[in-house]
Amino acid sequence: MTDTTILSPNLQRLRGFIADLTRLVEEHGDDEAAVLPAGRKLLAGLIATDDWLPDAYAQPDPVHYRQYLLHCDPYERFSVVSFVWGPGQRTPIHDHTVWGLVGVLRGAERSQRYDLQAQGGPPVAFPSEILDTGAVEAVSPRIGDVHAIANALPDRPSISIHVYGGNIGAIRRSVFDPLTGQRKPFISGYANSALPNLWDRSQPVPTAA
Ligand SMILES: [Fe+2]
Repeated sequence: MTDTTILSPNLQRLRGFIADLTRLVEEHGDDEAAVLPAGRKLLAGLIATDDWLPDAYAQPDPVHYRQYLLHCDPYERFSVVSFVWGPGQRTPIHDHTVWGLVGVLRGAERSQRYDLQAQGGPPVAFPSEILDTGAVEAVSPRIGDVHAIANALPDRPSISIHVYGGNIGAIRRSVFDPLTGQRKPFISGYANSALPNLWDRSQPVPTAA
């Protein structure tokens, strides 16, 4: 086995995850109560081994966290995104409007959930939670859709893999002012213009040493 083989990302793992998720949404459609627990298990399996994410989708930016699209279902039933957080980087308080799963692949993240007040005013914070490598968290309008996520490590990047019940970068959603609760519409987009090539299956499968 050459060094090149050892360093090549194991895209088979990502390809298998996407196939499993496709089967899941094919079977359960938008039945979130069925998709979330099964999707959580699949995502936990994907992030249990950190050998598959290509370096191009693991690069932090000096100023802003990055969101790289890894795959979008052709019917936009789900998308898979790698979020890369430099030290000190965080999201604003935001919603999703679709179900979402957050799984930490590398490092650790701080998750802060919020309740919006019906009469307006600042969003009410729940106690924050640390998500260590391997942890998976779910969000949705049904179970709680408003949160903020930050890198919990002061000195190095963290990376999480997110799965959403739609093409998340194209969905119109909201950020919220922490002091006033004022809602501002946003569409996140993606940092990348090219996707990982999951389909070059010409490389031989490495054999165990
Ligand atoms: Fe989020």
